[in-house]
Amino acid sequence: MLIKTDYGEIVEFKTSRTAFGRPLYLAHFFLLDGLLIDTGPAHTATEVKRALINAPVNQVAITHQHEDHTGNCSFFEQELKIPIYAHPDTLIIMKSPPPVPIYRHVIWGSQPPANGLPLSSKLVTEKYTLDVIHTPGHSIDHVSFFEPVNRWLFCGDLFLGEKLTGFMVGENIADHLQSLKKVIALKPKVLFCGLKGRIENATERLISKYEQWWNIGLKVKELYKAGISRNNITKIVFGGELFFHYISQSNWGRCYMVDTIIDNLSIFNNQ
Ligand SMILES: [Fe+2]
Repeated sequence: MLIKTDYGEIVEFKTSRTAFGRPLYLAHFFLLDGLLIDTGPAHTATEVKRALINAPVNQVAITHQHEDHTGNCSFFEQELKIPIYAHPDTLIIMKSPPPVPIYRHVIWGSQPPANGLPLSSKLVTEKYTLDVIHTPGHSIDHVSFFEPVNRWLFCGDLFLGEKLTGFMVGENIADHLQSLKKVIALKPKVLFCGLKGRIENATERLISKYEQWWNIGLKVKELYKAGISRNNITKIVFGGELFFHYISQSNWGRCYMVDTIIDNLSIFNNQ
């Protein structure tokens, strides 16, 4: 599935593999003035090629190394000969992608190897200059792109919605909160999110997310200090795991949010 929405200066591409006519998990990428931000998952390669083979793309920038963002890099690099820019850690994964867990392969597909160039501090198009901001937490290589005149923030998987209550193995709450603080300080007006697409009231939504996670952190800290086990904290705070935890073969879970909060307990002081 690929749905193209024209927002004037920015074109949004909403993609997903479908099962029984329903999208499995959405991945959005965006085109701004010849700059393509992310490329969608490999399972949507046919639709992406059809939609973009003659599109005015002259450079690609990647927010992070996950396969729903890098899945079609090889098409742009090898078939269209368009340069791809990414964080140095993203480039390492892109060049030699490790096998992904089965559920990720089923939903998004594995990314074919691709080469790119390291991002510098700015991304320049004909009309715009975007700041490249390192925003780790979701992954160590995660970057966001900020256009300061219109206050557009292309935030990859930094946001994903306020109510997200689970992490993949390895996500880091301290980095995540720090990254949210960093982008909130920019006062963005519109978010362009990997999962949710275009979102208005960007700063308010980011603050709301920050506060929800902060409050979860305080609650987990209180329970942990009271001697409650990690398993029981997950049950008390979240009501247990979502079904996706089991689908992901324990690669994603609310327990990892609890774990990373406990690993970073010292940051959760009453502000
Ligand atoms: Fe991601």
